[in-house]
Amino acid sequence: MQKLITQAVPTGVHVVTVRTKEKVNGMTAAWVTQVSFKPPMIAVAIAPPRLTHGLIKEAGYFCINALPEDQIDLAKHFGYKSGRKKDKMKGVKFTNAMKGSPVLDAAYAYVECELQDVFTAGDHDIFVGSVVDVAVMKEDAAPLIFHWDDFFGGSK
Ligand SMILES: Cc1cc2nc3c(=O)[nH]c(=O)nc-3n(C[C@H](O)[C@H](O)[C@H](O)COP(=O)(O)O)c2cc1C
Repeated sequence: MQKLITQAVPTGVHVVTVRTKEKVNGMTAAWVTQVSFKPPMIAVAIAPPRLTHGLIKEAGYFCINALPEDQIDLAKHFGYKSGRKKDKMKGVKFTNAMKGSPVLDAAYAYVECELQDVFTAGDHDIFVGSVVDVAVMKEDAAPLIFHWDDFFGGSK
């Protein structure tokens, strides 16, 4: 069923980055969307077991890094292993957004948000943030679209 839902509700593939006093981390997220126009607000669904879940609550900010179509390996790098087990930022080039969240060199655009609310939806929590910083670095980039089989080939 998940494969069908992914086809019916297409999304891009992003890396959600965060910086606390002690740690920088990123995780791949497909479930990202804008949810308010005025003020501009973004929502991302993050499951409670993710390290990023607690880090964003601590930091109060997060950054959505939009990946271009040739960055599937980077999406796997940030999406298959937790920052609890591995320093995923090691060897990954990044700069900082206005509030200090990492902006990956590989991203074609980013939007940094200040956390406003967290709502539970089933087994994920929806983090809603207001936009504090946004930029498009590569205007002509094609986004990486989330195709279930590209990442989770065996299970449907
Ligand atoms: C393509 C792809 C999309 C993903 N989308 C999400 C998502 O939207 N929300 C989520 O909680 N996890 C998602 N994940 C899983 C997390 O990226 C994964 O559990 C990651 O290891 C969590 O890292 P962390 O523990 O360092 O935060 C996705 C993984 C992949 C490969």
